[in-house]
Amino acid sequence: MHRIAIGPGGEFSLGGENFVIDVSPKDRRPSTSDTFTIVKNEPYLRVYEQLAAGFSPRSILELGIFQGGSYVLLDKLFKPRRMSAVEISPQPVEPLLRYIAAMEGRFVHFSTSQCDREILGQIVRDELADELDLVVDDASHTYEQTKAAFEFLFPLLRPGGAYVIEDWSWAHAPRYQSPDAPLAKRRALSNLLFEQIMLMGSTSLIAEIRVWKFLYLIRKTETAFGRSEAGKAEGGSIFDQILSRGREWSLI
Ligand SMILES: C[S@@+](CC[C@H](N)C(=O)[O-])C[C@H]1O[C@@H](n2cnc3c(N)ncnc32)[C@H](O)[C@@H]1O
Repeated sequence: MHRIAIGPGGEFSLGGENFVIDVSPKDRRPSTSDTFTIVKNEPYLRVYEQLAAGFSPRSILELGIFQGGSYVLLDKLFKPRRMSAVEISPQPVEPLLRYIAAMEGRFVHFSTSQCDREILGQIVRDELADELDLVVDDASHTYEQTKAAFEFLFPLLRPGGAYVIEDWSWAHAPRYQSPDAPLAKRRALSNLLFEQIMLMGSTSLIAEIRVWKFLYLIRKTETAFGRSEAGKAEGGSIFDQILSRGREWSLI
C-alpha cells in the first residue's frame, strides 16, 4: 500500500502533485499553481489510502471540493477512468481547472448544489459513462442535503460501489452544543446514518457500513439487484423501503 509522507507543515506530494493540509475554520489558503489546498487531516488521508489499496473505482463523483485538493488526491489515489465533482461556490479554482484541462475524462461543476438531481443525473450518465463506483460527499454536511444527494445517487451507484459521507458526527462535538453554535438550529447529520442502518436491515441494498468518528462508508451489495430494487426511489425515496413495524422515530 502506498503511504503518503506528510511533512510537519501538512505538506505532501502524490503522483507529481503537491498538497498542503489546511483545516482552519476560516481564511483557508487558496490553491496555487504549484500546491493544492486540501481540507482533510491525516486520519482522513489514511482511510482513503487504505480504501484505494483494495478498490479500483471506474468513476468517482465528489460533492464539495473547496480548493480542489481532495479532487486531485482522489484522482491520484484511485486512478479512475473518469471523475467529476460539484461545488456550490461560483468561484472557479483556476489550478484545478488547469489540472482537469490537461486530462481526459475529468470534469467539475461550480455553482452546482449536491441536491441538483438534473445535473447529477447528467454527470453520471454523460461524464461518468454510467459507471459510478465511488461517491465522496464532503459538501454541506446538513441532514437534508446530504440525504437528498444519497437518495438520488445511491440507486445510480454500481453494485459493490462505495458511498462515503464525511463529518457525520459534527452535532456530537463539544463546540456544537450551545444554542448559538453553528448549525444549532439544523438537524444532526447522524440522523441519516441511523436511517441508513435501518435501510440496511430492511433491504438487501447495503452490504456494509463502516463508521469512523469522522466519516463513514456505505458499500452497496454486489449482487445484481441493479436499479430495479434500488429504483423504487423513482417517484419516491429509497428510505420508503425502511421497515419499522409502522413506528415513527424522531430526529435530533
Ligand atoms: C469542507 S469543504 C470541502 C473540502 C474538500 N473536499 C477538501 O477535502 O479539500 C465543503 C465544500 O462544500 C461546498 N458546499 C457546501 N454546500 C454545498 C452544496 N449544497 N452542494 C455542493 N457543495 C456544497 C462548500 O462551498 C465547500 O467548498
